[in-house]
Amino acid sequence: MTLTLLMAISLTMCACSHENREPIHEEEPIPTEQPDATPEEDSDNNTEEDMDMNYAKFPLSEGKNGEAPTIRLSSGYDMPIVGLGTYSLTGEVCVNSVKSALNLGFRKIDTAHMYGNEVEVGRGVRESGIPREEIFVATKIYPNQYSDPEKAIEECINKLNIGYVDLMLLHHPGTNDVKAYKAMEKFVKEGKIRSLGVSCYYIKEINDFIKQVDIKPVLVQNEVHPYYQDLDVVPHIQSLGIAVEAWYPLGGRGHQKELLCDPVLTEIAQKHGKSVAQVILRWDLQRGVVVIPGSSNPAHMEENISIFDFNLSDEEMARIKAHNRNKKNVWY
Ligand SMILES: NC(=O)c1ccc[n+]([C@@H]2O[C@H](COP(=O)([O-])OP(=O)(O)OC[C@H]3O[C@@H](n4cnc5c(N)ncnc54)[C@H](OP(=O)(O)O)[C@@H]3O)[C@@H](O)[C@H]2O)c1
Repeated sequence: MTLTLLMAISLTMCACSHENREPIHEEEPIPTEQPDATPEEDSDNNTEEDMDMNYAKFPLSEGKNGEAPTIRLSSGYDMPIVGLGTYSLTGEVCVNSVKSALNLGFRKIDTAHMYGNEVEVGRGVRESGIPREEIFVATKIYPNQYSDPEKAIEECINKLNIGYVDLMLLHHPGTNDVKAYKAMEKFVKEGKIRSLGVSCYYIKEINDFIKQVDIKPVLVQNEVHPYYQDLDVVPHIQSLGIAVEAWYPLGGRGHQKELLCDPVLTEIAQKHGKSVAQVILRWDLQRGVVVIPGSSNPAHMEENISIFDFNLSDEEMARIKAHNRNKKNVWY
């Protein structure tokens, strides 16, 4: 274990600072390269690997600290199960956070039109020196863009300026969401986007939605953390052959204090010589939930991708499960 990691853990054990959200800002689109995507499988149908993939059980023994394992999505593409969230990271902080994360072994970055940082995420990816093909980048279009989705999708692709987008999500359900998704399907067929997904869709929303689209979403991104475990929704989505990804895995920027200082989680963390953040992220992975913790702090990032050298027992998993408060930190 490195010195920075040890320092981060000891700080995190009682680092209960409150952080404010930063304002969103708009960026100008910049030209994009032609796509060089070559899907491994026909994206319209489930692949054999998808049928074999148990989304409730990840291949955790294949991971090592600084190198998260991947899962095979129903599109045929592989995606790392630990990524960097970039909500509220802007400007040079965002560029440097993306570069630091990639340098520390992260290979997945999550952004969105709404975060106002697609240009900076794209710059971080390009300036990292890591081959584009090794990095998985996800972005999202926002409901106020669903009435003119082609324009919104082109804008995301242009701002990122990394050739193709690995995964594009609808940020929320909303008017014209099916129309917007169908526009994204066209971009998949053109090779400009590789996989599609949705965010903030629960049981009814996802059941209704998948009947209306041609390409099944590979992933649903929802609020999931020990105080909001989505105990019905997570297994339902997984049973559809769709991966689940947790946003706000640590409770959300500005809300993380409560979870990171939770006495039960702290006790489990101390037993393993880990931080509470590491225990939470490991708990997600052991129930088959992909994580994208947000951070601009390289010591935290290193900690967040160093969760492959310990295992939570069944008893500890049950203890955390019993800790559910069914308490969301935002309304959607
Ligand atoms: N689809 C949606 O509607 C939606 C909504 C919200 C978020 N998201 C996505 O989900 C990602 C994650 O959510 P989030 O970033 O809001 O919240 P989060 O990951 O739950 O928490 C981030 C906060 O935790 C701190 N942190 C990170 N690692 C830590 C560690 N090891 N020890 C102590 N503190 C740590 C970060 O501060 P430092 O910077 O100091 O590390 C930051 O303040 C977002 O970035 C975004 O990509 C999606």
